[in-house]
Amino acid sequence: ELQQLEAAFDQKIVNDQKIEPKDWMPEKYRQTHIRQISQHAHSEVVGMLPEGNWITRAPSLRRKVALLAKVQDEAGHGLYLYSACETLGISRDELYDQLHSGEAKYSSIFNYPTVTWADMGAIGWLVDGAAIINQVALTNTSYGPYARAMVRICKEESFHQRQGFEIMMTLAEGTPEQKAMAQDALNRWWWPSLMMFGPTDAESVHTAQSMKWKLKRKTNDELRQQFIDQTVPQAHLIGLTIPDPDLKWNEAKGGYDFGPINWDEFWQVVKGYGPCNKSRMDARKGAWDEGKWVRDAAVAYAEKQEANLEM
Ligand code: ACO
Repeated sequence: ELQQLEAAFDQKIVNDQKIEPKDWMPEKYRQTHIRQISQHAHSEVVGMLPEGNWITRAPSLRRKVALLAKVQDEAGHGLYLYSACETLGISRDELYDQLHSGEAKYSSIFNYPTVTWADMGAIGWLVDGAAIINQVALTNTSYGPYARAMVRICKEESFHQRQGFEIMMTLAEGTPEQKAMAQDALNRWWWPSLMMFGPTDAESVHTAQSMKWKLKRKTNDELRQQFIDQTVPQAHLIGLTIPDPDLKWNEAKGGYDFGPINWDEFWQVVKGYGPCNKSRMDARKGAWDEGKWVRDAAVAYAEKQEANLEM
């Protein structure tokens, strides 16, 4: 019987049919999805911190409103993704525990500091730009709830990307100091953004299996290349320079060649030794601990409501 179930599952994957929560699935498929979707959810939530840092210091009311909306969107993305992950039979409390204990990963990118206003531009343009490239591919992923969450998330990400690019464009057209600030932000965020796509295909432990299951529709290197090819002309358009002396158009491959990525830095950050890992985790754990009274009150209220109904 197990063989039949496996065969039916494999056939669905071949036919590009979605796997739904109540369908039979191999245990490893389930675990891999819990790993990736929860890492993704944690990234959305931790990702609020670097930008949250600038809400009170946005240079105008319009910028403040846009940034506030964007950061709120990230919280919403986290919630869709936690819900999608829960359909795989793990509770949200377990997922939070994994984040707070350091067992679960979240994206390396959110462990870098946001030191100037231009970083809000660079994050929207580059980080959300990279996220869209990764996530558009995932709208077609094999697990139904994850694919559907991605459709909605991508729409919002494209607004984020534009608001970031517009900040960069405005700074790049401004005073020499403003332009220098935009260039400095690009210099600091470029390489970490390339690292977001994960290790090279040769080093990526999960890619081969995830491609077979159609969890991933493109490999880390394919997505990274696509991001570079899309972003370099945007930098040129606003007169900024990509901080890579080896960057060169390669006519034969129809894409850019680029210089070496510092993978030592990447692994240091992934292992918890990036510039802001500790403060990000302290902020998340602090929010959880300080929010305990709210959760307790909500539970007490729900119990009271239920008791009233029974009377
Ligand atoms: N930051 C932290 N850890 C990473 C990163 C990264 N940028 N890239 C890879 N890793 C980790 C993987 O989680 C894996 O560790 P694990 O086995 O402990 O889980 C290890 O490095 C090896 O990498 P891969 O074999 O390539 O792992 P995977 O197939 O999961 O690919 C990727 C990594 C591309 C990030 C994939 O998980 C993915 O597409 N995730 C969904 C998108 C996402 O998480 N986005 C978050 C940032 S965007 C945003 O939130 C706005």
